[in-house]
Parts: sequence; C-alpha cells; structure tokens
Amino acid sequence: MDLPVIDLSPYLEIAGKSAGDSTGLSDHIDPEYRRLCLEVSRSLRETGALLVKDPRCSAEDNDRFIDMMERYFERPEEFKRLQERRHLHYQVGVTPEGVEVPRSLVDEEMQVKLRAIPKEFQPSTPTGPDPKWRYMWRVGPRPSNTRFQELNSAPVIPEGFPEWQDTMDSWGYKMISAIEAVAEMAAIGFGLPKDAFTSLMKQGPHLLAPTGSDLQRYGQVGTVFAGYHYDLNFLTIHGRSRFPGLNIWLRNGQKVEVKVPIGCLLIQTGKQIEWLTAGDCIAGMHEVVVTERTIDAIKLATQQNRSLWRVSSTLFAHIASDAVLKPLGHFAESPLAARYPSMCAGEFVEQELAIINLKGNKAEP
Ligand SMILES: [Fe+2]
Repeated sequence: MDLPVIDLSPYLEIAGKSAGDSTGLSDHIDPEYRRLCLEVSRSLRETGALLVKDPRCSAEDNDRFIDMMERYFERPEEFKRLQERRHLHYQVGVTPEGVEVPRSLVDEEMQVKLRAIPKEFQPSTPTGPDPKWRYMWRVGPRPSNTRFQELNSAPVIPEGFPEWQDTMDSWGYKMISAIEAVAEMAAIGFGLPKDAFTSLMKQGPHLLAPTGSDLQRYGQVGTVFAGYHYDLNFLTIHGRSRFPGLNIWLRNGQKVEVKVPIGCLLIQTGKQIEWLTAGDCIAGMHEVVVTERTIDAIKLATQQNRSLWRVSSTLFAHIASDAVLKPLGHFAESPLAARYPSMCAGEFVEQELAIINLKGNKAEP
C-alpha cells in the first residue's frame, strides 16, 4: 500500500494570504483547502502517518543533512564517544548503539498487545537494545520560565565539522515549519481551530535526533534497528532515508512497509496527538528492520561506492512542556476522553520515560 502524498504548496499559498485568521473555521475557507485538510486528518487517523511535499524542504536540503551525518557516523567510535554526554542522560550529543531500549522489550502491557497481533502482521522481536547510534540536537527557542527545566547543557558540536550548527539548525527549522503547516491542516480537518495544535507547540522541546545504523556490520535481513514502539511526542517528521526499512502499523492493524518518494517528508503520529484528540488519532506503532529492499539498497550503494550508514533525519516535535495535554474542543465530549486525563506535557513525558528508565536505560524522547 502506498500512502498518499499531500503537496503543501496550495495550502501554504492560501494560508499566507489568510494569515491572522486563527479560527480556520470561518465560511470563507476555500473548498480545495478544506479538502486537503480533511485528507491530512484522515491519513493521520487511519494510518498514523502522512507523506508531504513541502516546497521549503528540498531533496537537496535532505541530501546536505544526510551527507554530513553519514560523514559523522562513519568516524571511528573513539571520535564519536567524545560527543557522548552520558552524565546528562544523552539529552545532547551522541547516544552510542546499544543504549536505546525498544519499549516492547520492557513494557508488559505492550507485550500483551503484541502477542494479539495476527502472525502475518507481527513485528520483529528485538532481543536487546537497538544497535543504532543517535545524535541529539535541540531546535528552537525554549521558555525562560518553566516548571520543566531542561538540562542546561550547551549543544555538542563535533570537531572538524564547521558546517554542523548551520546544517542542523537549518534542517531542524525547515522540519518544524513543515510540521506546523501539517498541524494547522490537521486541526482544521479534525474540526478544531486552525491554531489548536500550533499554539501548544510554541517553545516546545523539539529535538532533531537523526539515527545512524551501520549496515556494513548489521546488514542482515531481520536485524532490528528500532524495535516496535510508538513515539511519545506530538508528531515526528523525517526526510527520505537512503535505505528503506521502516514498517508502520495502520489503525486496522495491517503492517505496511513505508516507501517515501524522493523529495517527500514522512510524518508520524505520536502519543501527544492521541491525547489531544482523545484517541481519534492514535500514536502510530512502527519499527525499523533490515528487509530485502534494504539489502537491494545496500547492494546498489556498494556498487556506487556510497556510505553504508543508514541515516534517518528525524525530528521529534513536542507540545510545550508547560502546556496542558487534554482532549481539545469536541474531543472533550468523546466517550474515550476519560482515558486521557489532563496533565502538563512535561509531566507526561517524564512519566513515559520513567517506564523505560526503570531498566536503567533510555528510549527515544
Ligand atoms: Fe520512533
């Protein structure tokens, strides 16, 4: 199954003209604009994912970012360990392979759900921590006054990468802009004011967190780079990876291998959008596994003398830590609303991380 691709250009054009109208529900909404918004909310609801084309985020931008990250991950382990900040719980800098633990390995409730999945759609079973590296780079302003102070640590820049800060920030800001457009469209599609989500995202702890997986070492079919899990943030966005391997589970339980066309971005739903919509849209389950298609891409990259590090250009967009997570607008009337009690987003994130940290390790933010 191929996910539909939504071109954001017409939306950005119309949204630019109607800047200042925060309701998004007024009568003068262009029918084409409304149709696109409904398509966005439908895809998020039914598939937990969405493919978009944003004229502001080109394939060249994605390439520039991936090229730099490949060069970084290819450096020897001793070099990369210099950017490790274990004492800061890896909230900045590099997280080596073998540290992130897939939730399905430690969460018994999830294990029960997992066993109930029909055999043909079963996820791969990870046997230990994920064998992938990750780099954490904070993007965007943070509140000066907050109940959830992030660790006050400086960003980590590896030596010999003069373009690092500029490349990370420009990709990060572009990804946030794309997420904001999708969040506005989704809000309209869900029958909420246009800024229902984006107003809660302001000064959120957004994190650019690309991963690097060594396919030369771990390029065997079935290797699990990211075990079956959901993301605890609001929406996650990635550019196209040079190596396929991402599987997602649709609302109906079907497992789908995602194919991201060149120049497109992939967006996935996290737990915070599930909270805000009282489960009308649920956090998408996903995994990253070496498949036959990954092997084909490895063969081609080898022939072309290209890097065998699989880089994901992931950005986790969050609801601001001090903002309240609760079912919004008409979702507050949903019979499921009681499952989503009101709490600060920062408190929610701490709760989710505690489940994983019980095992002394950390999972995705
Ligand atoms: Fe994830």
